[in-house]
Amino acid sequence: METARSLLITGGAGFIGSHVVRHFVRRYPHYSILNLDKLTYAGNLANLEDVAGAPNYSFVRGDICDLELLRRLFQERRIDGVIHLAAESHVDRSIRDPFVFARTNVLGTLSLLQAAREAWAGAEEGKRFHHVSTDEVFGALHPGEAPFCESTPYAPHSPYSASKASSDHFVRAYRDTYGLPVVLTNCSNNYGPYQFPEKLIPLCILNICREQPLPIYGRGENIRDWLHVEDHAQAIDDIFHRAPDGEVYVIGGLNEWRNIDVVRLLVRLVDEELGRAPGSSERLITYVSDRAGHDLRYAIDAAKLRRDLGWKPRYSFEAGLRDTVRWYLAHPEWVEQITSGAYARYYESMYGPAAAAANK
Ligand code: NAD
Ligand code: TYD
Repeated sequence: METARSLLITGGAGFIGSHVVRHFVRRYPHYSILNLDKLTYAGNLANLEDVAGAPNYSFVRGDICDLELLRRLFQERRIDGVIHLAAESHVDRSIRDPFVFARTNVLGTLSLLQAAREAWAGAEEGKRFHHVSTDEVFGALHPGEAPFCESTPYAPHSPYSASKASSDHFVRAYRDTYGLPVVLTNCSNNYGPYQFPEKLIPLCILNICREQPLPIYGRGENIRDWLHVEDHAQAIDDIFHRAPDGEVYVIGGLNEWRNIDVVRLLVRLVDEELGRAPGSSERLITYVSDRAGHDLRYAIDAAKLRRDLGWKPRYSFEAGLRDTVRWYLAHPEWVEQITSGAYARYYESMYGPAAAAANK
């Protein structure tokens, strides 16, 4: 059994964070796990109902930009490990409001690094700061180009990816300047239960159910490399526990799909689950204006992670998507809760009042 640890997980009420919290709470009962989350529109404690009462879990509502709060938590809880997921995460929102992305993703990460540096100064041995980042920092690939790997140069395009790239650079700077014991991971697109329905996959699942338009940006030919969120959580576990200090890993499923093909697969799966005639929801596919600066293709070569730590994804895409579809169909109350209020107003501002009303 590993030594007991006092872990701070940030953004644990969000999509990936809730899976990471659940994974660590269940797998490491001798750890003390503190979830720090601001509960923005994307954070939802209902994502963690099944572990909220666990004796090794606690929650603090707070902002990662609040350095005084961070200092207090590091001291009071004797934090010796950080898994940092709190972020603004949606590209379309970053195009509309880049400042909140700079605040949380850059200044929030910097505050967390500073709090860890101060708390661990002179006692770095056995400590670990795991920064969870995205493959979007590498920019876009052309078809046929080799997938991203750990040595790919940074070339972010969106305000979201620029803010994440900046946070990655601060992580490296704290490693190189102050000797902070960090690991850094850049993962491809995740899917699975509890994903907020502004992202392509849950948005389309819910819209197929409600017979609402499936908005495809541009020609639907942009490519993403999809990974099940539980495979990401396992990779974080492997890297957090076993990677050498200072290492960087890219994480992905070697699972590239054009958006239009993902949506067609979702149409087939949801129609099957609902007993509709095969493909009857294809008529909902609606081409809309392209996203500004839309990256053409992301793809990851996770050979280093496979080679060093033996990680590989467990989910095939179709099986993982089918489970995800079934999860959304089985949790209408979660969907109702999350799509009311602030999200309904955002959806209306994107697609108009009629679409928003139909989306309720
Ligand atoms: P999410 O938007 O679902 O959740 C983000 C969480 O962070 C929410 O619970 C929110 O309340 C919290 N948060 C936001 N601002 C905060 C602040 N100032 N202080 C404290 N908490 C705050 O995001 P996600 O999709 O789960 O992504 C989690 C992390 O993984 C992010 O860092 C993201 O960049 C990274 N990532 C995501 C993907 C993906 O496909 N979703 C892929 C690779 C990496
Ligand atoms: P998204 O889930 O927002 O993730 P990211 O932008 O981080 O990759 O989008 C995935 C892909 O789907 C991306 O190429 C944009 C596209 N997309 C649509 O075509 N329509 C939509 O309504 C959304 C939300 C995304």
